[in-house]
Parts: sequence; C-alpha cells; structure tokens
Amino acid sequence: MRTPMIAGNWKLHKTLQEATSLASDLRSAVADNRAVEIVVAPVYTALSKVAEAVAGSNIKLAAQNCYPEAQGAFTGEVSPALLKDVGCQYVIIGHSERRQLFSETDEFINSKARALAEAGLGTIFCIGETLEERETDRMFDVLRRQVRCGLKNITAGQMGRVVVAYEPVWAIGTGKTASDEQAQEAHAFIRALLTELYDEQVAGATRILYGGSVKPGNIDGLMTQPDVDGALVGGASLNAEDFARIANFQNVG
Ligand code: PGA
Repeated sequence: MRTPMIAGNWKLHKTLQEATSLASDLRSAVADNRAVEIVVAPVYTALSKVAEAVAGSNIKLAAQNCYPEAQGAFTGEVSPALLKDVGCQYVIIGHSERRQLFSETDEFINSKARALAEAGLGTIFCIGETLEERETDRMFDVLRRQVRCGLKNITAGQMGRVVVAYEPVWAIGTGKTASDEQAQEAHAFIRALLTELYDEQVAGATRILYGGSVKPGNIDGLMTQPDVDGALVGGASLNAEDFARIANFQNVG
C-alpha cells in the first residue's frame, strides 16, 4: 500500500515571517491527519525557520532544488548534505520551471537524483509534457525519455526514496487541471514504465503524484484514480486553509 503524499511547492514566495506563519497555521490545520505524508517546500532562506515551525509535527520539509556536488567552488549553489543538515527530508528536482527557465537537461537532473540517492534524501522527481508535445502525440515519448534519463543508475533499493510527480506543463499555474482520466492515463503509463525499468514491486511501491492547478475543488476526484498517489501543489499551497483541505482530501484514511 502506498501512503498518499501531498506536497506544497511554495516557489519564490513568502518572507521569513510569512513562511513561518503559514507553516504554523498549516500545522494546526492538518494536526489530525496521520494518513497522508504532508510536505512543504519553502525557499532556501526560509528552510531553517520553517523547520523550527514544523518540528515535532506531521509536516515534513523539502527543498525546491539542489546542486549535485557535495562542496567546492560552486558559487550560489546548495548541496544535498546541507539540505539534510537544515532538516530537509525531500528535495524537488526536475520541475518544469527549472527545465524551461534554467535550461536544466535530463542529464543534469539525473546527476541531482544520484547525489540525493547517495545522500539518502527523499526525491520528488518531476516530469511532464508541454501542450505542444501532447498535441503532436509525443507525450508518451517525452515521459519515457524523462523517466529513463532522470532515473538512470538509480537502483531498485534507492527507488524506495523516490517519488515521481507527473506535472503536465500546460496545467501548471494555468488553472487548467488535467481531468481525472488524463491524470490516470499518464500515471498508469509511468507505473508501467517503472515495471519495465525495475520490476513490479518497485513500480507498485513508488508513489506517483499529480501536479498542475490542484485545488480544494479537484483533489477529491484526482485521488479516486488508482494510480494517483497524491499531489504536488503550487499556488494553492500558499494558503493554509486551501492546502489543508487538499491534504485532508475526501476519503482520506
Ligand atoms: P500549480 O503549480 O499548483 O500552481 O499549478 C504546481 C507545481 O508547479 O508544482
């Protein structure tokens, strides 16, 4: 059985004060939810304060990015070990904003996946097709390439700490969610791919999150789909009440 995960990607939002107050509001709003793994990913500069605000609660901390090297002359970068040191249990990699705005390649994302696996950190590995790729029937090829390259040399054992997030680029921040059926179709494809690359056990145990305009109004439907194991939430994670409603989705538990 896969424990559902609801993760909030705060992107480039919230001052220290706003981040800690969001974290503590959320802490009370989800205090009774023990059935879902709840994760928040603030900006780097707020990680330490948010770690304090969620200490001892059922909320886990994630970073939005990392650099694959452990240390050295890499001005402006942060290593997996330092993220672990500040209290992160997960790191998001491969987000479409990093692929598109910062030209991150599948190979570079794979080097981060390997560094995180070696550091023993949880990884939220994002993939997803653009609208153009979907409309020109390249969606499955793109997902296959992203999964194959991104997870290259990640062992079956290391897959235990990897969560895949399917985020169709056309649904991110646009208010256009994939339908429940579109999400299920992609998730089933990704799970079959994991069976091909690993085995049924790994594929069956790996959580696949949906991301892209997830809101209180559409989470319940998405979570009815057999291969949807949770959500990676952007905009709606910036509001404690909305994010708590998403984490407390219907039929939870
Ligand atoms: P959104 O973002 O929920 O605002 O669409 C999702 C994401 O980018 O992870």
